[in-house]
Amino acid sequence: MTETRFSFDPSDPALLADPYKVFARLRAEDPVHWTDHGFWVATRHEDVRAVIMDRERFGQGDFVRNIQLFYGPDFDVLAHPSYRWLSEIFVFQDPPRHTRLRGLVTQALTARRVAAMRPRVQEICDGLIDELAPRGHMDAIHDFAYRLPTRVMCDMLGISDAEAPPAVLEQLNQAIAEAFLVFGMEALPPEILARADRQMLFMEDFFGQIFANRRANPQDDLATDLVNARDGNSALTNREVVTVAIGLFGAGFETTAHMIGNGLLSFGRNPAEWARLVAEPELARNASDEVLRFESSLIATYRTALTDADIAGTPIKAGQRVLCLLGAGNRDPQAFSEPNRFDIGRTDATRHLSFGGGIHFCVGAQLARLEGEIAFETLARRLPGLVANPATPAWREGLLFRGMSALPASW
Ligand code: HEM
Repeated sequence: MTETRFSFDPSDPALLADPYKVFARLRAEDPVHWTDHGFWVATRHEDVRAVIMDRERFGQGDFVRNIQLFYGPDFDVLAHPSYRWLSEIFVFQDPPRHTRLRGLVTQALTARRVAAMRPRVQEICDGLIDELAPRGHMDAIHDFAYRLPTRVMCDMLGISDAEAPPAVLEQLNQAIAEAFLVFGMEALPPEILARADRQMLFMEDFFGQIFANRRANPQDDLATDLVNARDGNSALTNREVVTVAIGLFGAGFETTAHMIGNGLLSFGRNPAEWARLVAEPELARNASDEVLRFESSLIATYRTALTDADIAGTPIKAGQRVLCLLGAGNRDPQAFSEPNRFDIGRTDATRHLSFGGGIHFCVGAQLARLEGEIAFETLARRLPGLVANPATPAWREGLLFRGMSALPASW
């Protein structure tokens, strides 16, 4: 294994405050890096892309063993509802199980359904701004960034206001944020893991009731489509439907909310780009990709070597885990000119890695882009004086999902 001068530490506070400094150092000094935590880290755009595209040599591998890497061999991974759920969602499955589950979801999450959501996403966005505009200030995370995708995901699944009134939505947001900590790169303290487990049980119960309802009273919505989705004779089981729904809801809410929050911070730190968006709102679509490149809400994903392999010549043994730092690839000077410049007119912004690639490419990418475009365009048009630029952003714990716990903004 490579001799390294420093080891990547996912819980280092300096890394959380500014991951891009550490990423630049890794890319330059040790682009395929073996950590003291027992996994590899890939940082160059070309290498990260090669790993996530290579379904023959890199996949999800043995879930239990991968989690035991953090906790030790005696840890009973699947006794924890949060890890059991994680082990069953299709992003952590290899073919053929992945192919079947993904296929059933994409049957229901069609491009037509996403395109048809445009007027509704606009309406939700306008409704939030109608309420906020007279105030002159907001917490951009709680008052706007969380509320838009949560409502959109409920709409998409067909969950009505009566089924999820504002207090329940708050609870769901909280549940996702706490349960999703199991996606992390290290062992969770026992009390945090216990909370993640409780929140997972709460969500299983909530979505279980929604689907029981749709089986009894089918409607024209994604929840009913998921209940009815078929692959030959095989439909999703009750548990699969609930597991997929929590995955869709969580993936669709958490990442999108922080794309909006991280975008507003990037604009706050680069006021000339905000002025450009106000003057040229048609740049909003490209701006949402540039936000995902520049300050992605999902910094990394894992793969496990399915066989002895290599990354750019560095040998990787079968069974070893590789952390693919999408966020590091997104700032690679070999892939993007002036990668540390936030430039909403960049013509190659869509080459970012933030939606992954290969067989696991994000199924919600079109919806996320639609929400980003509408959110940034509408905010620039209706609140052109908006500024969000705290001296010290409140970055949340954990590197994988990058977002802030609050973001004061005013106009
Ligand atoms: C800005 C927002 C988003 C970002 C940055 C994002 C990012 C990603 C990434 C990087 C992956 C691939 C993970 C891997 O290869 O290991 C992924 C997969 C996935 N995403 Fe997204 N996502 C976003 C929004 C959404 C939305 C809105 C939905 C649902 C409507 C969604 C649902 C999924 C699902 C189900 C997968 C698993 C696909 C598979 O394994 O085949 N995502 N996402």
